[in-house]
Amino acid sequence: MSRRSEQNSSSGIAHDRRATRNDRVMQDLERYGGEILHSGEMEKAFQQTHHNWSTVGEHTLRVAKASLAMCYLLHRLHIKTDIPDVVKASLCHDLGILGRYEKFSGNRECYRQHPIDSVVIARALANNLSDKSADIIERHMWPAAHSKHPNSLEGVIVSTADKYAAVKDFFQGSSIKHTGPKPFLHRILRRK
Ligand SMILES: [Fe+2]
Ligand SMILES: [Fe+2]
Repeated sequence: MSRRSEQNSSSGIAHDRRATRNDRVMQDLERYGGEILHSGEMEKAFQQTHHNWSTVGEHTLRVAKASLAMCYLLHRLHIKTDIPDVVKASLCHDLGILGRYEKFSGNRECYRQHPIDSVVIARALANNLSDKSADIIERHMWPAAHSKHPNSLEGVIVSTADKYAAVKDFFQGSSIKHTGPKPFLHRILRRK
């Protein structure tokens, strides 16, 4: 086999693995968080800008996907995590930030209050929200915003995924609002 075809076949395998993992993620999100995923709140989440170039909805999916990827990896290492709790918490963690400019007086109040509001929304949306999921949501801002630290492995996973997704929000932007570094550079270059 030539070097080129070897490279093509290994990138094909990586692509297949990614597709399989994405399917598994979507199945878990539907199975354990379908009622949240298809709610009016989630619809609104895809309309509100978040982290400058993304939306709350796209950020939420990034957090859920990264959280589940960590769970799958830990399961392969025989470390058990509670996937239904991770799904519900990751999907709801930022829903309390919807309408932030109308309901919060500024960023400081928003950082402190939105996790608490997210718990209220999660209790209304999710079937049987566990205390563990509520704690994950309430503490997700850790280590920022003087938040209490996570009190479960699942809490550490979602808080870590949240920071990772915030970086991804910046570099990947929003495919709904067509914002991000790529469209931004495009606009700048077109002006010249
Ligand atoms: Fe948040
Ligand atoms: Fe977040």
